[in-house]
Amino acid sequence: MKLKLANAAWLGFALLGLLSLEPIQRLFSAPASTPHVQGQDARRRQDWLSWQGVQQGSCAWGALPNGLHRKGGICGVANARRAVSPPALYALHLPPLRSNGHQEEPLNRLLSPTAAQAPETSLETCLERIKASAPHGDFACLRRVYQQPITQWPAPHIDPGVSWQEMAALPRKAPEPDDNPGTPEKIALGARLFDDPRLSVSGQIACANCHDRQLGWADGRSVSFGHDRQTGRRNAISVAMSAFAEPLFWDGRAATLEAQALHPIADAREMAFTPEDAARRLHQTGDYDAAFAQVFGDAQITPQRMAYALAAFQRSLLPRFNRFDRFLEGRHSALNDQQLWGLHLFRTRARCMNCHFGAALTDNQFHNLGLHFHGRARQDLGRYEVTGNPEDSGKFRTPSLRGVGKSGPWMHNGLFHDLRGVMNMYNAGMPRPRPNARQQNDPTFPKPDPLLQPLDLHRSEIEAITEFLRTL
Ligand code: HEC
Ligand code: HEC
Repeated sequence: MKLKLANAAWLGFALLGLLSLEPIQRLFSAPASTPHVQGQDARRRQDWLSWQGVQQGSCAWGALPNGLHRKGGICGVANARRAVSPPALYALHLPPLRSNGHQEEPLNRLLSPTAAQAPETSLETCLERIKASAPHGDFACLRRVYQQPITQWPAPHIDPGVSWQEMAALPRKAPEPDDNPGTPEKIALGARLFDDPRLSVSGQIACANCHDRQLGWADGRSVSFGHDRQTGRRNAISVAMSAFAEPLFWDGRAATLEAQALHPIADAREMAFTPEDAARRLHQTGDYDAAFAQVFGDAQITPQRMAYALAAFQRSLLPRFNRFDRFLEGRHSALNDQQLWGLHLFRTRARCMNCHFGAALTDNQFHNLGLHFHGRARQDLGRYEVTGNPEDSGKFRTPSLRGVGKSGPWMHNGLFHDLRGVMNMYNAGMPRPRPNARQQNDPTFPKPDPLLQPLDLHRSEIEAITEFLRTL
C-alpha cells in the first residue's frame, strides 16, 4: 500500500513538473498588472496570494497518511498538488472557474486517487481534496465524521471569551412566559388581530402587511413601508423566530414580545394609531367581544390583552421541524454533500458560530458589522440610539438564521438581495469604514467587531455555506 501510494505520488509529481511548475514560475514573475493576472477577477489574485502563503509554509499542508510526508518527496508532492489548485490552472490558461468552482478536476485526477480512498486520511487532507474537486468530491470522509453524535463533531472555531452553545434541533414548542401561556383560543385571537387592518389609523394596514406568511413572515422589501406609504429605514424582521429573540427589534428596544406588540401600532410610519384608540375601535365593532371574553374572562378589550394575544400567536409560528433539525437528530441523509460541507465550514473556518449558535442560531447580542453609514444620509447607529452608550454605536442584534433562505433581503437595512452577496461580504471580513478627519475624535464612530475577520474561503466553499443556509 505504501509503495503504491508513493509510486502514484511520484508519477503525479513528475507530470506536474512537466505540466505546471514552469507556468507557475511565469505567473509568479509576472507583475500584478500583466493582463493575464489583472484581467481575471480579484478572487483569482487572492487565490494567487494565498497560494504563495502555502508555498512559504512549505510542508504545513502535507499531512499525508502513515506519516509518509516525512519520507522525502511526498512533502513536495503535497505542496505541488496544492499548487495545482487553483492559481496554477490560471497560469496554464485553462478555462476560467465555472460558477460551481469545479475546474481543478482534470489536473487533480493526475494525482493519486489512492490517497483519497485510504480510510485513515486525515480530515484536513480530506477537506483540501473536497475543496479541489467540489462539488463532485469524495465526501465520504466528512460524512463519517458528522455521522457521529454531535459531541464528537469537530469543535467549532470560536474565539476565547465567547460563551456559546452547541447547535440543536428546534424544540417542538416555543418557550413562553408563565404569565402568558398560549392556549388555542388565545392564539386564534392573536391570529385575527395580526390580520386585522383596523389596528391602524387608516384601517388599511395590518401586521400581516409587513409580516407575510408567504414571504417568510417578513415583507420581501429592503425596508418596509406603512402609513401613507411612508418608508421606514429598517428591514422587516421575520416574526417566525421572535419567540427566541430577547430583546426584540434590530436594536433591542423591546424587552419581550408582549412589550413589542404595541410599538408598530403607534409607529407613525407603520400603523400611525394609538393602542388605546385601536382597542376602542375593536370594541365598537363588537366583533371581538366574545373572543376576548373567552380568552380573558370578560369582554374588555385593552392594549395589554391585545398585546398578549398577538405575542401568543407569534410564538405559535415556530418554523416546522426541517431537514437541518432531522440531521441534528441523527437522520444523516437529510443534508446532501454540499450542504454538509457548508455546515462544517459554518462551524469551523467561516467562524459563523462565534455569533450564530444554539437552536436559534443567534447569540442575541449586538455587533457592528460595518453597515451603519455613519455621517451619511443613510446613517443608522442601531443599539446606540437606544442606550446612548457610544460603545453600542453601529451595533445590531444578531438575527436568527432559521428560515433565512426565505426572509431576504438581508441585514437591518436590507442591503443584500442575494445570500451569496452576504457570504462574499463575510468572506472579505465585512466593510470597515474609517473615520474621516472630522470624525476622528467622534466617540460614536463605530468600532469594527473583533470577531469578524477576512475568511479566505474559496468560491466553492462560499457556495457550500450558502446552500447550507438555505436548509435552515
Ligand atoms: C409597516 C410595516 C410593519 C407593520 C405594519 C408591522 N411591522 Fe413588525 N416590523 C417591521 C419592521 C421594519 C421591523 C424591524 C424594525 C426594527 O427592528 O427597528 C419589525 C419588527 C417586528 C418584530 C421584531 C422581531 C424580532 O425578532 O425582533 C415583531 C415581533 C413584529 N415586528 C411584530 C409586529 C406586529 C405584532 C405587528 C402588528 C401589530 C407589526 N409587527 C406590524 C415592520 C412592520
Ligand atoms: C460578529 C458576530 C457575527 C458573526 C461572526 C457572523 N454574523 Fe451573521 N450577523 C450578525 C449580525 C449582528 C447580523 C445583523 C447585522 C446588521 O444587520 O447590521 C448578522 C446577519 C446575518 C445574516 C442576515 C440575516 C437576516 O435575516 O437579515 C446572515 C445570512 C448571516 N448573518 C450569516 C452569517 C454567516 C454565514 C456567518 C459566517 C460566515 C456569520 N453570519 C457570521 C453577527 C455575526
